[in-house]
Amino acid sequence: MKDLINTLGLCSRILVLFFLPLLGFHSSFVQELNPLEGDPRAARVGGSIFRAQCATCHGADAMGIDSIDAPDLTQIFTTPGSSDQDVFQTIREGIPGSIMPPHAFPEAEIWMLVSYLRSVGVSGFTGQIQGDPDRGMFLFSENCETCHRMNGQGGSLGPNLSMIAAVRSEDAIINSIRDPSAIIGRQYKPVSVLTEGNVRFRGIIKSEDAFSIQVLGTNQVLRGFRKSTLRELVYEDQSVMTTFNESALNGRDLTDILSYLQSNL
Ligand code: HEC
Ligand code: HEC
Repeated sequence: MKDLINTLGLCSRILVLFFLPLLGFHSSFVQELNPLEGDPRAARVGGSIFRAQCATCHGADAMGIDSIDAPDLTQIFTTPGSSDQDVFQTIREGIPGSIMPPHAFPEAEIWMLVSYLRSVGVSGFTGQIQGDPDRGMFLFSENCETCHRMNGQGGSLGPNLSMIAAVRSEDAIINSIRDPSAIIGRQYKPVSVLTEGNVRFRGIIKSEDAFSIQVLGTNQVLRGFRKSTLRELVYEDQSVMTTFNESALNGRDLTDILSYLQSNL
């Protein structure tokens, strides 16, 4: 049986080699699917390539390095619509206008990197939460909705949470609630400015260049400032998200909120 499979494997490889020129396959053509998917060795070797070539910027754990704005790569598959092929292209071509360089590696090595990133990537809740989703919905509207959208309703200071149970683990969400400042998403960097008129404005950075900065205030009003006119510009390390300790939300409250987030999928 094993021999048969090997032979079939070999045959199909020969067939592929034979037919590829007919199909117009050339080296810039990228397959939709990772040909190494499901091969644990690919992820392992990809991990070594990663540590040698990518870790200086993205961190040895692929979780990103904030000071150089190199993103957390364990999150890339959580963006709706992101595919193995997109990640392949990004690695090969780099991101123009950023320090993310192109990589002229053989295709197989790039796929190994993709396999590795898949293996460390997060992908949603692992089990069915035993909680009360209705009570969770109530707690959510009381505590979270001012900043977070769910199904088209709610504030926009924080990320939309409608699909969050599909892209983050239970633990990741609990950590976000108990300790929001531990990991602050790239698009939610907190900042505090003191204007010419001595007015303090705190919020998250929406965009910034050498001369100006746009801040979405904690009051959810967007304001732009010329940096030269500011008395103070402080990049903060505390998230604008409220920290919810045990007395604000106990364990049962969290379970109910999680079950609401899951029931929403
Ligand atoms: C010199 C630093 C540097 C190196 C080396 C580097 N990257 Fe990046 N990478 C970045 C930065 C910075 C970004 C974000 C660019 C942007 O979005 O403006 C990025 C973006 C990415 C993205 C897109 C992330 C997203 O949010 O969609 C992927 C995937 C990626 N890098 C993979 C890799 C891999 C794999 C390697 C190694 C082969 C690598 N990078 C090497 C700095 C680096
Ligand atoms: C004052 C505004 C505010 C409130 C209230 C708030 N959040 Fe947040 N939340 C944010 C911001 C801003 C971020 C992004 C920055 C960060 O991660 O700290 C965030 C991030 C998160 C994340 C991480 C999302 C991700 O992509 O990983 C989760 C989960 C979350 N909040 C859940 C909640 C829940 C549940 C509540 C209510 C119990 C809540 N938040 C209340 C502003 C808020």
